[in-house]
Amino acid sequence: MKQDQATQLRQLMRAREQSQSDVSTTSATRRLERQSQAQPEGRTRLSDKAKQPSTGLKTIVVTGGKGGIGKTNLSANLAIAIAQSGFRVGILDADLGLANIDVLFRLTPKYNLRHVLTGEKRIEEIILSGPLGVSIIPGSSGIQALADLPTRARQELIQELRRLEDLLDYLIIDTPAGIGDNVLSFVLAADLILTVTEPDPMAYTDAYALIKTISRRKQNQMIYLVVNKVRSMAQGQEVYETLQTVSERYKLSIRGINYIGYVPYEAKIRNALFLGSQKPFILEYPETRGARCFQQLAKKLLYYLRRTPRERVDENVRDFFSQMFVYTTD
Ligand SMILES: Nc1ncnc2c1ncn2[C@@H]1O[C@H](COP(=O)(O)OP(=O)(O)OP(=O)(O)O)[C@@H](O)[C@H]1O
Ligand SMILES: [Mg+2]
Repeated sequence: MKQDQATQLRQLMRAREQSQSDVSTTSATRRLERQSQAQPEGRTRLSDKAKQPSTGLKTIVVTGGKGGIGKTNLSANLAIAIAQSGFRVGILDADLGLANIDVLFRLTPKYNLRHVLTGEKRIEEIILSGPLGVSIIPGSSGIQALADLPTRARQELIQELRRLEDLLDYLIIDTPAGIGDNVLSFVLAADLILTVTEPDPMAYTDAYALIKTISRRKQNQMIYLVVNKVRSMAQGQEVYETLQTVSERYKLSIRGINYIGYVPYEAKIRNALFLGSQKPFILEYPETRGARCFQQLAKKLLYYLRRTPRERVDENVRDFFSQMFVYTTD
């Protein structure tokens, strides 16, 4: 992002903080409370819809630009929440960092996508089964060189990955930090782009840079936003308004930013891993505000995914996996 836009973001944030200190906190709280309770159109029928049969594999990519903002944690907890609604859900671990999804689920993968790529294993053989039957597909280094794969290897990999369409209703792709080519391939191919950020200006500046990159590569995308680690509801809303204002000011070619909610900063989320919790946060602490936020986010995502028809780049590209390679070669 250009320096002037980063500065602009910070100025907007400061201006907003200033103006908010003048506004009655009661009315601001009421407004945010209303917003937090506002349900998307038709939301009351969500639970009924959740029981309806799925119409093919839908993909959600969890991304955000900056490292350590909670992408993996969000992916894991959303997957559990979606599984609780009775769907078959998987997580493709495209994150090569330390806190991998298998670590969160306390699983030790023996094989990964690289073994599928070399033909040693079928896709089913590398899948690990997590809590509530959530499937974990370890990415490892097999997905590092998507762009460099020879055509035949690509086609074989696509064929294998396509088998996931029979095994799953939803696939969550947990991406590593940054906006490298591989990350972008997943982002541009997915049915729904879930951008995570934190209230920290460094984080939402990176989120803005990511949104801008997306808008340049593929126009008219809807960006679904989650603000993680908030200390108050207002913080989440402020971050959203800042991103929204700057995106409009700089006329990014996106359909819009849909702020679907926040997750509070909770020490229990941070510590879950280190305290040796045997279960993901949402199962270990279902009564916390954080767990309820994950549940609400999952419901909203399912709702929006049902409304979103798959965008095809061309007639021959019918599935996420082929589309992923179309963007790799862009
Ligand atoms: N809402 C939250 N409250 C408190 N801690 C959180 C919250 N969300 C995530 N964390 C903590 O923040 C740290 C980073 O989370 P996570 O590994 O999910 O981030 P990430 O975006 O996947 O990072 P990377 O870019 O390295 O893959 C972890 O210690 C995690 O427990
Ligand atoms: Mg991660």
